[in-house]
Amino acid sequence: MWKQHGKLERHSLLLLIAIVITVAIGGIVEITPLFYLESTVEKVEGMRPYTPLELAGRDIYVREGCYVCHSQMIRPLRDEVERYGPYSLAAESMYDHPFQWGSKRTGPDLARVGGKYSDAWHVDHLRNPRSVVPESVMPPYGFLAEKPLDYRRIQDLLRTQRTLGVPYSAAQIANATADLEAQADPFASVTGLRGRYGQKVLQRDFDGDPQQITEMDALVAYLQMLGTLVDFRTYQAEAPANRR
Ligand code: HEC
Repeated sequence: MWKQHGKLERHSLLLLIAIVITVAIGGIVEITPLFYLESTVEKVEGMRPYTPLELAGRDIYVREGCYVCHSQMIRPLRDEVERYGPYSLAAESMYDHPFQWGSKRTGPDLARVGGKYSDAWHVDHLRNPRSVVPESVMPPYGFLAEKPLDYRRIQDLLRTQRTLGVPYSAAQIANATADLEAQADPFASVTGLRGRYGQKVLQRDFDGDPQQITEMDALVAYLQMLGTLVDFRTYQAEAPANRR
């Protein structure tokens, strides 16, 4: 055996061919199973598609380029988990088209910012970040609070997401406008909205301005939901088969 190996080591071409064969076998072993898996994303309880208001807010997040300074992916490293909370799961971005993992953190990670601050804090912070964090370098976005949210095409937005694989039901699409309005109005009935998106859906006047639904309403609704869908007090990662 070792004699044979000596032969290999002395012939560069032979060694090259052997390396290619070995790497190819390794590649096949790793890659072929993926063709037989329906999904590489482990299903996690609590994940649901965005409500129409959150989806509209997410569009504003993308439009304003918040991802340029903020990531939405907590890595499984101790310092990150201690600062931001449980590390991000693949399932938590399964309805994100495009995903918002980001590649730069001028500001902190936002994957679990939901519920960390009050709505009023977010509104103040977005209007003028320096009013709550004096040393902040984040730009102000006060205009969002003045700008009425244009949601005439909200149904099309949901339909588009459905063509990308987000499982919006016919009822969710048909009621998109009503659901959006109900979520931003603390006095509206939420039975329909919660029936379609779950009991945990937040309903309130996110920007504190009852006169109109603004882009601020949508963005704050989105921020307040981020990272709150999976209940990490009960979540148990699926253990590899050999450790069960
Ligand atoms: C130029 C970079 C930059 C951009 C663009 C930016 N931010 Fe920030 N953001 C920061 C920095 C720096 C901080 C940390 C200081 C602070 O809290 O203001 C921050 C903090 C935050 C926080 C508080 C996070 C926490 O856990 O304390 C939120 C929420 C936030 N940003 C949301 C947004 C949203 C939404 C947008 C897009 C509308 C946005 N940011 C755009 C730089 C940016």
